[in-house]
Amino acid sequence: MHNIMKSFKDTLAGATNILILTGSGVSAESGVPTFRGAGGFWRTYQATYLATPQAFKANPSLVWEFYEYRRDLATKVQPNKAHEAIAHFEKKCMSDNKKVTVVTQNIDGLHQRAGSKNVIELHGSLFKTRCTRCDNVEVNHNIPICPALQGKCSPNPDDMSSDIPVEDLPKCQKNSCFGLLRPHIVWFGENLDSDILAKTEEIVESCDICLIAGTSSIVYPAAMFAPRVAERGKPVAEFNLEETPATESFQYHFQGPCSVTLAEALSF
Ligand SMILES: NC(=O)c1ccc[n+]([C@@H]2O[C@H](COP(=O)([O-])OP(=O)(O)OC[C@H]3O[C@@H](n4cnc5c(N)ncnc54)[C@H](O)[C@@H]3O)[C@@H](O)[C@H]2O)c1
Ligand SMILES: [Zn+2]
Repeated sequence: MHNIMKSFKDTLAGATNILILTGSGVSAESGVPTFRGAGGFWRTYQATYLATPQAFKANPSLVWEFYEYRRDLATKVQPNKAHEAIAHFEKKCMSDNKKVTVVTQNIDGLHQRAGSKNVIELHGSLFKTRCTRCDNVEVNHNIPICPALQGKCSPNPDDMSSDIPVEDLPKCQKNSCFGLLRPHIVWFGENLDSDILAKTEEIVESCDICLIAGTSSIVYPAAMFAPRVAERGKPVAEFNLEETPATESFQYHFQGPCSVTLAEALSF
């Protein structure tokens, strides 16, 4: 492991355009549950079911309660050593005239809070809303996001609510639109924003090294980025608790919590 880590660090030291792909595993040690595995339930619902347009259509109150819970949680937790290592690394690279881009599937804002500057949020943000009528996107850090959601976001299966009338859910304030707001998040079954996808693809095609941390490489299109860098013959290093369907195609695999492995790989 040590020789392999040294080999990776030597390669990284020679790179000038570095792509760091992150998924929910990077935030797991901050206390934000991943969707797959033990943390994947909220009340009696599977989190992957609630993060869908179908669930929002069927019961917007339920989905807003779930997102109120996640906004509240993401606000209370702190970035961990993996977020910090990435932010420090970017700062150092900037002073050496090298480029670091973080492309994250996470919506919790923890990279930015740790100090990362060049972050692409592939799947949107817990702290942005979008109007279902006029499409206006706004930053919003209010907790609760509206009075009716106060105290309604318990994850406990015994604390069922999900009965807030639509007129009391978050509403668009732009030009008296008053359309129902939704989280500005790419839900399962929805397409990524085309500008964000194009920007990401440009880096996938031009970077000279890629680090991929805390992602299962199951959710597309995010899952195809690192394999595409590997196909161009460039080194890719995976940091995960376990092997993933993509591990075989990468030059490096560092198994373990990324607060340890990634922090070591990015230390200098
Ligand atoms: N924090 C967040 O913002 C958050 C949390 C849950 C889900 N999501 C969303 O759900 C989707 C799920 O995709 P995903 O692939 O990111 O997550 P995932 O839940 O499918 O997989 C998480 C991966 O992280 C690994 N992992 C867990 N803890 C780790 C640790 N401490 N160190 C290293 N690896 C660790 C797991 O082995 C797994 O491969 C994403 O689209 C994302 O938008 C976001
Ligand atoms: Zn509107």
